[in-house]
Amino acid sequence: MKIDWYPGHMKKARELINDLVKNIDLIVEILDARLPQSSANPVLRELHGRRPFIRVLNKEDLADPATTKAWKSYFEQEEGVKALPLSAKNHSAGASLQKLCRKMVPHRCKPGRPIRVMIVGIPNVGKSTMINTLAGKKMARVGDKPAITTCHQQIDLRNGILLSDTPGLLWPNLSDQEGAQRLATSGAISENAYDQVEIALFALKWLSETYPERLKQRYKLEELDLEASALLAKIGSKRGCLVAGGEVDMRRAADLLLRELRGGQLGRISLETPDV
Ligand code: G4P
Repeated sequence: MKIDWYPGHMKKARELINDLVKNIDLIVEILDARLPQSSANPVLRELHGRRPFIRVLNKEDLADPATTKAWKSYFEQEEGVKALPLSAKNHSAGASLQKLCRKMVPHRCKPGRPIRVMIVGIPNVGKSTMINTLAGKKMARVGDKPAITTCHQQIDLRNGILLSDTPGLLWPNLSDQEGAQRLATSGAISENAYDQVEIALFALKWLSETYPERLKQRYKLEELDLEASALLAKIGSKRGCLVAGGEVDMRRAADLLLRELRGGQLGRISLETPDV
């Protein structure tokens, strides 16, 4: 199955951001720490030019700490880029990000001249949560199904930082199918856009290769030497995802696996590692 999601107004968003970037000092991109590459916006790199750039590795509470550390080093190889792992839900996240913003553009830290920060991120990475944490109050909608925020708004944090929130930056077309499958696994893509069983099989393959012990432990599996579909059937059977006649309901088994993976019940799991 091909996950194909081309947002019609991508061109408009690109133009708007291109325009906005002229009047900003610093770009903050919110990424999902479990899949920082796949949750990055592919056009941002071409737009940010020489602006200092912070890549926030959000939801670090769900990601494998060793892999997050590797991603931080990987991103920071690029000049002018800092990576900051955090959990936007955590109150201290706002202070850490603001501190790094000030450090990145010290020349802007003058009375009456706020640092102009553009905050971007694809849907569901936690951008609204991050903005709320930064502002110390509810500013943007959180928890909506992946969708597009259409208006540009400025938020004065009244502490020398002026935030520019941008329209949702969606990826142009999900031509990297593995990246798209990772996004679907993380829950960033609307459920209507993919086949749950297929994504669960993709996730199972990754888990068997990368976190075999967690998988065995969670679902009380002795061995993992089965095909992914047989493994999913086994998990479904053990968890009572059955239809009349005792057959496994693969869709329910897939839902269960994906829900537990996203909810952290298999522990802190990263869905991709940096190319080294
Ligand atoms: P967006 O603006 O980028 O689209 O994302 P949003 O802030 O709406 O967050 C998407 C989901 O991710 C929300 O969960 C939110 O609570 C969760 N989230 C954001 N930051 C973190 C984090 O650091 N750690 C964890 N574990 N989760 C985070 P939801 O279930 O969709 O909504 P809700 O139940 O919180 O209302």
